[in-house]
Amino acid sequence: MTEAARTTFTPRVFSGIQPTNHLQLGNYLGAVKRFVEMQNSGIETIYCIVDLHAMTTWQDPADLRTATRELAASYIAAGLDPKRSILFNQSQVPGHAELGWIFNCVARMGWMNRMTQWKDKAGKDAEKASLGLLAYPSLMAADILLYHATRVPVGEDQKQHVELTRDIAAKFNHDYGVDFFPMTEPVIDGAATRVMSLRDGSRKMSKSDPSDASRINLTDDADTIAQKFRKARTDAEPLPESVGGLKDRPEARNLVNIYAALADVTVEAVVAQFAGKGFGTFKPALADLAVARIAPIASEMQRLMADPAEIDRLLGDGAERANAIAAPILARTKEIVGLVASRRR
Ligand code: AMP
Ligand code: TRP
Repeated sequence: MTEAARTTFTPRVFSGIQPTNHLQLGNYLGAVKRFVEMQNSGIETIYCIVDLHAMTTWQDPADLRTATRELAASYIAAGLDPKRSILFNQSQVPGHAELGWIFNCVARMGWMNRMTQWKDKAGKDAEKASLGLLAYPSLMAADILLYHATRVPVGEDQKQHVELTRDIAAKFNHDYGVDFFPMTEPVIDGAATRVMSLRDGSRKMSKSDPSDASRINLTDDADTIAQKFRKARTDAEPLPESVGGLKDRPEARNLVNIYAALADVTVEAVVAQFAGKGFGTFKPALADLAVARIAPIASEMQRLMADPAEIDRLLGDGAERANAIAAPILARTKEIVGLVASRRR
């Protein structure tokens, strides 16, 4: 190794969400709420709206524009501060696509073919999936490593992609004999790293589930939220005396996890509070808590969406700041791999 393997990287957080559909409770608890906590812990935080990732499946251009601004509004309404964090949309910092290409030449086809999300999304008709959908994890690695980010808060389903990011960094460092890219850590913690569907405790709550009753959208009003929790599938038993009693009760466990994450308390504390109580008591308490937490976000989002030009301005400022960090890292990467900087200066 020419650059000593002793490099220490400054702690820096990066994460992103695709601008497709409205955010649901799983995105909020598994991602955005934790983005806010990290921002408020004082560490440098960069949060992206990954519009280039969204394009891996067909997006109507007008919908993509709206969803990009709406996700920006959700970020800010949920507590991300464009001054304390860098908030921007991916396509405005060209280094993402450029480093993504370089990583396409580092990552191996076999790695890509093994990605669970690729297998799920491409399904049986992989021949008809876009090439971008297969290459997507390499672009995600570029998103993270373009900033030398050390920590990536995500939900459970993204763990494999962050591990692949480490594989790409390690192969790059090894092949070029450098210690240039950090080994990024996924940060998957809290009670709600995998929020399940309200209709089926074995499926993940998802923006794209055809059943709207399966999820709480951040845009749902108080009545809708209460009704969805009331109708949420559960078993007939009261809540157990200890956390162990939730083991084979996926629907009950999911609702308890959601309560704990919304209330910022442990699962143990929720079980202690509701032990022996039925869902007739627990569900309305959960609905009240969810409304208290989510309704203010929805109304702030609406207020922000009334001024799309201001959202674009905030994103543009964020992109400038992101680019200032990315540009020297990209330039050094090009130098390492042997791309001649003929236009520099
Ligand atoms: P997606 O909606 O798949 O673009 O995911 C955006 C972010 O939200 C990622 O960090 C996901 O891991 C997280 N996320 C999505 N769905 C859930 C869920 N049901 N539970 C927890 N986290 C989730
Ligand atoms: N793949 C992530 C998802 O679908 C989104 C994403 C893209 C991301 N680039 C990222 C998340 C970088 C964390 C870091 O949810």
